[in-house]
Amino acid sequence: MESQQTPEILDYRNENGQGWSFYKHDGVLRTIRTTPEADMEMIRNVQKFELRDDDVIIAAYPKCGTHWLWEIVTMLRAGNSEYHKKSKEIAMLGMPKFERANELPSPRVLNSHLHFCHLPENLVEKRIKTIFIMRNPKDVSVSYFNHVNGLKESFHFDGTYSEYLDLFLEGKVPGGCYADYVKDWQQAKQDNPDLPILTVFYENLKKDPVKNIKTVAEFIGESVTDELCEQIAEACSFKKLKVADTEVKEGLADPTHLIYRKGEVGDWKNWITVAQNERFDDVIDRNLEGTGIVFTYE
Ligand code: A3P
Repeated sequence: MESQQTPEILDYRNENGQGWSFYKHDGVLRTIRTTPEADMEMIRNVQKFELRDDDVIIAAYPKCGTHWLWEIVTMLRAGNSEYHKKSKEIAMLGMPKFERANELPSPRVLNSHLHFCHLPENLVEKRIKTIFIMRNPKDVSVSYFNHVNGLKESFHFDGTYSEYLDLFLEGKVPGGCYADYVKDWQQAKQDNPDLPILTVFYENLKKDPVKNIKTVAEFIGESVTDELCEQIAEACSFKKLKVADTEVKEGLADPTHLIYRKGEVGDWKNWITVAQNERFDDVIDRNLEGTGIVFTYE
């Protein structure tokens, strides 16, 4: 009988007991929510998930603007600026019950925070259009802290932003190290030149939504008018999506607006001290050295 080795449990908590337990799977640091075995089983099921030729996948580290981009791409594929009744969680590979995405009609807009190697195996073979969205790590850390802090019962974290930042900079948060995630996608792009991957930056989308929406439309092969791109940009503005989230969306109620919190570039300045900022720059420079990635911080 095949015996499965029990993975090593890595307990990364600070002196106040804040933090998480992890294990490594295919070299990727994974938070243990139930058991490593259950997590590995979930990943196996995602890897076996049957993609359809016309699927689009949005890949993002948490808090990089996944919901925003999902709404945009969903509208582009529908050819109008009407809100989908559901949120992106209905099509999120790696979420509990993600198999429900099988019931969705085509064309589907899937999304995931999983690393490249844990996504469906037929992604490359089917040349599935993949959009990778990145955001500056300082705003990611603040957005992520607020998310985790607002969902204490799910994330079991009751620390301060400073405590969270220490863990974030060491990559010991759910989703692992942000720089590793970004590098993983850069590597995936290099290793799979035939896989269509479009990289979008949150800050560019914020600065010039219409232009970026047009680029996304072209990439996914939707011919759209300038007028439709403008309507989608407007319908997907932070203010409008925040309202739609409570007034239109069915299912996951988010009365505390964890997702549509602030939607700005540079909010990190309200959270990070001068000393933390220096440390942040140092860690990011070191971790992203040689990647050529330049983030916009304000
Ligand atoms: P903040 O917490 O900084 O407000 P994700 O969808 O990946 O979880 O990312 C959530 C982040 O994207 C939140 O950041 C949220 O406000 C921001 N966001 C969502 N829609 C947005 C929009 N239309 N414009 C700008 N930011 C948006």
